[in-house]
Amino acid sequence: MKRVFSGVQPTGNIHIGNYLGALKQFVDLQEDHECIYCIVDEHAITVPQDPKELRKHVLDVAALYMAIGIDPRKSIIFVQSSVSGHAELGWILCCNSYTGELTRMTQFKAKSGGQESVGTGLLTYPVLMAADILLYDTDVVPVGNDQKQHIELTRDIAIRVNNKYGETFVVPEGRFMKAGARVMALDDPTSKMSKSSPNNHSRISLLDEDSKIKKSIMRATTDSDGEIRFDPENKPGVSNLLSIYSAFSGTAIEDVEADFRGKGYGDFKKALVELTKEALAPIRQNFNEIRESEELIRVLDEGAEKADAIAQKTLKRVRDTFGLGYR
Ligand code: AMP
Ligand code: TRP
Repeated sequence: MKRVFSGVQPTGNIHIGNYLGALKQFVDLQEDHECIYCIVDEHAITVPQDPKELRKHVLDVAALYMAIGIDPRKSIIFVQSSVSGHAELGWILCCNSYTGELTRMTQFKAKSGGQESVGTGLLTYPVLMAADILLYDTDVVPVGNDQKQHIELTRDIAIRVNNKYGETFVVPEGRFMKAGARVMALDDPTSKMSKSSPNNHSRISLLDEDSKIKKSIMRATTDSDGEIRFDPENKPGVSNLLSIYSAFSGTAIEDVEADFRGKGYGDFKKALVELTKEALAPIRQNFNEIRESEELIRVLDEGAEKADAIAQKTLKRVRDTFGLGYR
C-alpha cells in the first residue's frame, strides 16, 4: 500500500478552503492507503503564538480530523512536536538546501514582504515541511494548490540527496483536488480563503453555525451581469461559489451551471447555503462529542508512538547516509 502524509497547522478557524482543498481527500485516501495525518505545531511557531491558545488549537484540529471521518483505527493521527525526528531531519535538510531556493518561495515572499526583520523559521519553514514528508518515506501528499511549490522543493531536496549520497529518500508526489483546490475568499474572490483575514465573512469555518453560514454566503461578492457561469477570469466571485457548490455536491461544474441556468444569484446562493449547512452540521456535532472525550488524548498518544517507530527507522538510514554518529 502506498503511504500518504499530510499536515495542517493548528491555528484555529479551519475553513471550507482547508476542507475542500485538502482535508476531504484525507478521508477518502484512508480506504486504500496507509495514511499519516499530522498537526504541525512546530510550523505554527514560525510566527508568535499564544502558548495556551496553541495547545487548544492542536486539540481542536485533532478533534476536527476525527470529526470529518479520519478513523484512528485506519490512520495515524499525531502531533508533530511529539516526534523529535521532524526537527532533527529538518536540520539535516537545511544543510542540503540553498537560501536562493527558499527566498524564491511565493509564501515566503508574501509573509516576509514589507517586514523590517524576518524570522529565520519563516525562511526554513518549507525545509521542515520537506522533513515531515521525507521522514515517513511518503509516496503521496494530499494538499491544496498553494503548497505545490513546497512539494516541488521537497522533491528537489530528496533527489539532490539521493544523487549525491545514494538512495536515501522516497521521492513523494503531491495530490491536488480539482474543484476546491483553491477556494477563494467570499468577500474578495481574487485572494484565497485564509485563516487570518480580519473579515470573518471572508470564510466559512467548519464549525460555523447555520446562521453564520447563511450570512457569509448571502453577502459573498458576485458581479452585476446576473449569469451563473464558470469564468474565473471575468467572474471570480460566481466561479468561486460554483466551485464550492461542485465540491460539496460532487457534481461537475458544468452540471451545476446547467441546473441553475436562467436562475438568479439569490436562488443559487440559497441553494449553496442549504448544501453547506447539510455538509457541516454532522461535522460540528461529531466535533463537539470528540473534543470533550478522553479518547482524543489516547489517539494522539498512540499516534505519536506509531509515527515515532517509522521515523526512527528513517533517521537511522539518514544518519548512516551522512555519517552522523559513531557506530
Ligand atoms: P494551512 O491552513 O495553511 O495549514 O493549510 C492546510 C491545508 O489546506 C493545506 O493543504 C492547504 O493547501 C489547504 N488550503 C489552505 N487554504 C486553502 C484554500 N483557500 N483553498 C484550498 N485549499 C487551501
Ligand atoms: N505547509 C502546510 C500548510 O501550510 C502544512 C504542512 C506542514 C504540511 N507540513 C506538511 C502539508 C507536510 C503536507 C505535508 O498548509
